[in-house]
Amino acid sequence: MTLLGGLAEIADVGRDAARGGYSRHLWQAADLELRAWFVERATRIGLDVETDRNGNLWAWWGTPGPDAVVTGSHLDSVPGGGAYDGPLGVVSALDAVARLQRSGFVPTRPVAILVFAEEEGSRFGVACLGSRLMTGVTSAATALALTDADGVTFAEAAASAGMDTAHFGRDAASLDRIGLFVELHVEQGRGLIDLDSPTAIASAILAHGRWRLTFTGQGNHAGATTMAERRDPMVAAAHAIVAVREAAIASPGSRATVGRLRAVPGGTNVIPSTVDVWLDARAETDAQTRALVADIESRVLEGVGECSFALVEESWSGVVDFDPTLGRHFATALGGVPVLPTGAGHDAGVLAAAVPSAMLFVRNPTGVSHSPEEFAEVEDCVAGIEALETLLRRVL
Ligand code: HGY
Ligand code: MN
Ligand code: MN
Repeated sequence: MTLLGGLAEIADVGRDAARGGYSRHLWQAADLELRAWFVERATRIGLDVETDRNGNLWAWWGTPGPDAVVTGSHLDSVPGGGAYDGPLGVVSALDAVARLQRSGFVPTRPVAILVFAEEEGSRFGVACLGSRLMTGVTSAATALALTDADGVTFAEAAASAGMDTAHFGRDAASLDRIGLFVELHVEQGRGLIDLDSPTAIASAILAHGRWRLTFTGQGNHAGATTMAERRDPMVAAAHAIVAVREAAIASPGSRATVGRLRAVPGGTNVIPSTVDVWLDARAETDAQTRALVADIESRVLEGVGECSFALVEESWSGVVDFDPTLGRHFATALGGVPVLPTGAGHDAGVLAAAVPSAMLFVRNPTGVSHSPEEFAEVEDCVAGIEALETLLRRVL
């Protein structure tokens, strides 16, 4: 098997002709096809694959057991996402394990490759849902009640995918098996370009969360309603989107984004009755992120006019500081690669609260991610696989 062959094998799965890139969302056709691909690919190298109670896939090299060294990432994507965010970690894990096997290496601890469900939260709105459920950060009740854009509940989608909805929830048995988790991931940002290194170890993840802002006005006729008599929630939403940007610029190091908007009813000749706008806000501390959202809320209220406004938190992830000792140990094992923070959330960040976790980044020559233009050079991806193999040898 050629290195990174797995990326070629899935290159046509979930292509999005309208957006470009890939749209691979939990338990929909592309995700189901990728899950089947992973099972086949892992089985091909003698791994035993099982699905845990929360829909995460585990491919075991050897008998599942405590103190396992676990690596992996996710296969789902954002809408119109790139080819590397998630799959590079899964494919690199498969290749690193295959290289260890071919070299005759015999691990002293159980080894597993883990593929998390719904890392992007693109279908049900909560990022890292599979690892949140595993660690208990998100309850089964909360998850099962989530709905997708078509009104399908997580519970209905899970049942359709053959899952037992009575079993979702904190998975102590799976957590107890993990002695160490390390996730390889394409870098999302320009850090490794500036540091001129193909790989790096993660030090931290920004605090980040998602909020839904709902503006309610008076739905009406676009032609029969004079400008003076309107209560147009789209205008309030437009003001809010500008306010989001202004508030983030006023808060050094913060990032705030509106990438998703929904107007109801959504007709060209209809003044909307409601407009939903989703906010993604991030900063270097929990307090700064909370303060940013509070500032956004007060700025939005200044421009809400005659409409009403509601703000609902949909997900929250506090700052993650990865274990510095483990990080230095890994960076040294790799010959002194850089150790740097990231603004992107990851399952490793969720797991870090429960088990020793680390991340290994692979250079992205443009830093662009969550876009069809996301890219990584083959030689950097190979350097990532070799680095992951080195780390696995070090801890196994
Ligand atoms: O949103 C994130 O940071 C990650 O890609 N889920
Ligand atoms: Mn992502
Ligand atoms: Mn990712």
